[in-house]
Amino acid sequence: MIDDGEEIPLLGGDVTVGLVRVGDTVRRPPGERDELVRDVLRHLESVGFTGAPRFLGVDSAGRQTLSYIEGEVAGRPWPEWIADEERMISIARLIRAYHNAVESFGIPTNLPAPIEPAGLPDLADPPELVGHQDITPENVVFRDGRAYALIDFDLLRPVSRARELVNLMLWWGPFGADDDLDPLMRGLDQPRRCRLIADTYDLALEDRKRLMELAIGLNERAWHTMKYRAETLGGGWQRMWSEGIGDTIKHRQVWLEANADSLTTALIS
Ligand SMILES: Nc1ncnc2c1ncn2[C@@H]1O[C@H](COP(=O)(O)OP(=O)(O)O)[C@@H](O)[C@H]1O
Ligand SMILES: [Mg+2]
Repeated sequence: MIDDGEEIPLLGGDVTVGLVRVGDTVRRPPGERDELVRDVLRHLESVGFTGAPRFLGVDSAGRQTLSYIEGEVAGRPWPEWIADEERMISIARLIRAYHNAVESFGIPTNLPAPIEPAGLPDLADPPELVGHQDITPENVVFRDGRAYALIDFDLLRPVSRARELVNLMLWWGPFGADDDLDPLMRGLDQPRRCRLIADTYDLALEDRKRLMELAIGLNERAWHTMKYRAETLGGGWQRMWSEGIGDTIKHRQVWLEANADSLTTALIS
């Protein structure tokens, strides 16, 4: 059994209520995919991947206990360095390393169904590995100005590499019109940045060609999924919905459609 100690709330995440730090550990209340998270974190440890917390067990309160990773994490408001190109490149490098490490875990079967509405259109995008799928600024730990570790594996799921890169570009490209982006993320050359991400990751040409179509399909699904999660799960999902994330996703759809060609050109040329 894991010892209890002084609990320091960890703020700044999006949805997890009751997340605390105890000494050099983090305690997470049960989440959607606990068994998968446990198994993947153990796998990452077994292959010597250092860019993720260690799974240390379950504490007396039934919470997932993970190692606390020292470093710098962006909270809101985001720090000045949020748009730094070298940092962005280092995240693409970290995602590549994570994929190299997680690939041998394989694609688990018998996973609980994801919490999403029935009847979403099929994207015809077969999974290749277990992706992180939530590569937000708040979920990357930096050391010495470089991405050092991923945290918050709550949205792990089998995905294609292209789909994971869509998630990475969504946050770090980022995808969206200046008016809809954080002021620190405005005026960036998104095609150039997405190209740098794809090159650093070494994304295959076939994936580059279909990436924007996939991004558009996923964004459309995201609107339905976020709405459904707000209605069925409440909590942080409901808060994000009432703060207007649905409109943000709709605006992003317009931007993606208007910019798909120039982004694809940058990715493949
Ligand atoms: N293992 C960890 N090591 C270091 N910091 C962490 C760790 N887990 C969480 N945090 C901190 O707590 C914040 C919220 O945690 P997170 O797991 O992302 O929760 P949420 O599901 O709410 O997004 C993170 O942005 C980070 O600052
Ligand atoms: Mg988080």
